[in-house]
Amino acid sequence: MKIWIKKQLRESLNEMKPIPKPEFGSGIQHTVFKSKQDPNRLYKIGKKSTVEAWVKIFNENPEIFPKIYRVFPSKKNQYYWIVEIEKLNTELAKKDFSLAAKNLSEFTRQKYDAGIWLARIDNLDDYIQNFNEFMYDFEHYLREIYKDESTIRKCLEWVETVYKIYKNLETRYDYYDKDIHSDNVAYDNNGNIKIIDI
Ligand SMILES: Nc1ncnc2c1ncn2[C@@H]1O[C@H](COP(=O)(O)OP(=O)(O)O)[C@@H](O)[C@H]1O
Ligand SMILES: [Mg+2]
Repeated sequence: MKIWIKKQLRESLNEMKPIPKPEFGSGIQHTVFKSKQDPNRLYKIGKKSTVEAWVKIFNENPEIFPKIYRVFPSKKNQYYWIVEIEKLNTELAKKDFSLAAKNLSEFTRQKYDAGIWLARIDNLDDYIQNFNEFMYDFEHYLREIYKDESTIRKCLEWVETVYKIYKNLETRYDYYDKDIHSDNVAYDNNGNIKIIDI
């Protein structure tokens, strides 16, 4: 076959190639794939410079972030890295985060005339109120609304955990570039709150 015909054929065949692995999720900076070998692991792919920024922090804080098993360069593109990472449970965490955020926002709108986002809770004691005093009032508010203890505990736990995690990241890493929202949180198999993306 003439070379140019071969070339054209190859190009159109390449366009028809199926996607190699099923995509599991994606955001602005990463694409995430399921592992074919292990249902408890994912492959998260992103630019080398982006991946470098979070891999170190994840590795140093396994109680906050998913476990990292391996980091290696992509064969297809030298500027991309692949991270083999623990797959966590996102569905329920997403709902619980949103519930805590909604209550926090309603309570603070009532209390200060301005709603505070859960993503900004670590700034609270910089200019508004001591955090422990705040939590005492927040618990009181929740008890007026909810009868069941587990919902109250859940809201308190999310607010306190997000506060502690981001205070810690600021102090240890000078990390102020927060990206906390309901798509970036999860639970591990023991029900601990984890952050999957910073
Ligand atoms: N460790 C993980 N466990 C479960 N789901 C994950 C995990 N990491 C990423 N995901 C899923 O993939 C999506 C995109 O990954 P993410 O790390 O948030 O990338 P981006 O930086 O592009 O937002 C997440 O919103 C989540 O649904
Ligand atoms: Mg994300």
